[in-house]
Amino acid sequence: PAPGWATEADVVVVGSGVAGLTVALRCAAAGARVTVVTKARLDDGSTRWAQGGIAAALGEGDTPEQHLDDTLVAGAGLCDEQAVRALVTEGPDAVRRLITTGARFDADDVTGEILLTREGGHHRRRIAHAGGDATGAEISRALVEAVRAAGIETVENALVLDLLKDGSGRAAGVTLHVMGEGQRDGVGAVRADAVVLATGGMGQIFSATTNPAVSTGDGVALALRAGAEVSDLEFVQFHPTVLWLGPDAEGQQPLVSEAVRGEGAHLVDADGVRFMRGQHELAELAPRDIVAKGIMRRMRERGAEHMYLDARHFGAEMWGRRFPTILAACRAHGIDPVTEPIPVAPAAHYASGGIRTDLRGRTTVPGLYACGEVACTGVHGANRLASNSLLEGLVFAERIAADITAEDITAGTESTGAESAGAGGRERPAGRTGPSAPTASPAASGDAPLLASEARYEIQHIMTHGAGVLRSAESLARAADRLDRVQDDAVAQLRRDGKTAEPGVETWEATNLHLVARVLVAAALRREETRGCHWREDRPERDDTVWRRHLLVTLRPDGA
Ligand code: SIN
Repeated sequence: PAPGWATEADVVVVGSGVAGLTVALRCAAAGARVTVVTKARLDDGSTRWAQGGIAAALGEGDTPEQHLDDTLVAGAGLCDEQAVRALVTEGPDAVRRLITTGARFDADDVTGEILLTREGGHHRRRIAHAGGDATGAEISRALVEAVRAAGIETVENALVLDLLKDGSGRAAGVTLHVMGEGQRDGVGAVRADAVVLATGGMGQIFSATTNPAVSTGDGVALALRAGAEVSDLEFVQFHPTVLWLGPDAEGQQPLVSEAVRGEGAHLVDADGVRFMRGQHELAELAPRDIVAKGIMRRMRERGAEHMYLDARHFGAEMWGRRFPTILAACRAHGIDPVTEPIPVAPAAHYASGGIRTDLRGRTTVPGLYACGEVACTGVHGANRLASNSLLEGLVFAERIAADITAEDITAGTESTGAESAGAGGRERPAGRTGPSAPTASPAASGDAPLLASEARYEIQHIMTHGAGVLRSAESLARAADRLDRVQDDAVAQLRRDGKTAEPGVETWEATNLHLVARVLVAAALRREETRGCHWREDRPERDDTVWRRHLLVTLRPDGA
């Protein structure tokens, strides 16, 4: 829709988690006029919900090299080693700068040293945490306060719609729909020389997820419509231990952090047998995909709907001190982890893929950057290592801010245009593991009609049954057909009634979910192997001869 009003900035940042707010702070500190737009309130994204912590080689004896090794193993052959190297070497200082910004991590009362825990796939204690298990909430608090103190302009309750481009095809801002609350209502635009997408994930394409309701894939959908390249969408990470609230539980579910296993909790079946022993040298602390698969296998063997996490041996004092958030969430649902094992099952947690970027966060559209979960920088490969996501948001936000401010947009110089970041001349991250196979998705359409808000639930049902933890060619093909039908019905309605669903946040969200779901299913069908968090029942082996490569997706100009 045409914008009814417009405002201007040097940089518009879309999203307000660790990635978005860090970009905003660093650009503002360099003198740029920054506007942050966010779909709900500043602290409503996924960052606030992060429990376990932020991984960095901060501990005695730990090194970035060891962090790199663990990250590459978890990524199952698809990490970009150069991107991982940037992550792990710049990570410790980035965390220290976050502390300077105001984040308070748990530290030893006597020595003042930051306390570190372990999580799946890490061979060392390297996860810094805050408030016991409320790390994201503390990071979010500190960054929101810093953004307010810096006087950065923020627009809350604003759903981003589409990218604005100038005549040369360079990003020139975004259109957005602002939802009341004393602000200018309706569709407007923020024009800017640089656009940073930091909109988070897409967990809401599944029925049960750890992601908040706002995680509807808006950034990836916008990028696809804008012609940007998207990669690795098939690698959806399912967190192994999400509080099981019954077979019909929908929407955001309470997470039971890996850090609980890091501190010694055991995964057991209904008979109390520790089934992860013997499956991997790290047992319950194996990389996340292996634990999720171990749980699913045992559930199938036993015909069970969930397994259990047993941490009764922590005792009441440790539960209250170390994991107050999880303790409260369990008790709110009638489960007391001090006296009984916690019922858990895997649920959708993190998009390892996203909008393809280079090492400076540049996408294939000049002037458009992506940061955090919405991006695919190459650090996660086929399966993100636990607690690397907050770190990625932090490190690559600083890289993006450095790139944007190095272009000196604040001094009003001409943008460098297509040569600097266009699809043709783009810096390709080095160290890619083999040739990538560009795939024009047959599924994604750039000019699809708006879907009714109820389509969200249908999409979630289709995805959960067809493209969940366990997938096969058959389940994915069925999902693709059913997703096509959702769109066909909207087209039929348009032809019949001459109008689509009423434009609004819920209908745009449903339309975005549908677009990313179709691309994800197309990629998952195409990847005929099992790797990382992509588990194909009909192709149970990893196939390095054919599939040690990335699937890249762009929409064709005709929208197909
Ligand atoms: C957790 O606390 O288990 C989540 C950590 C993560 O997703 O990185």
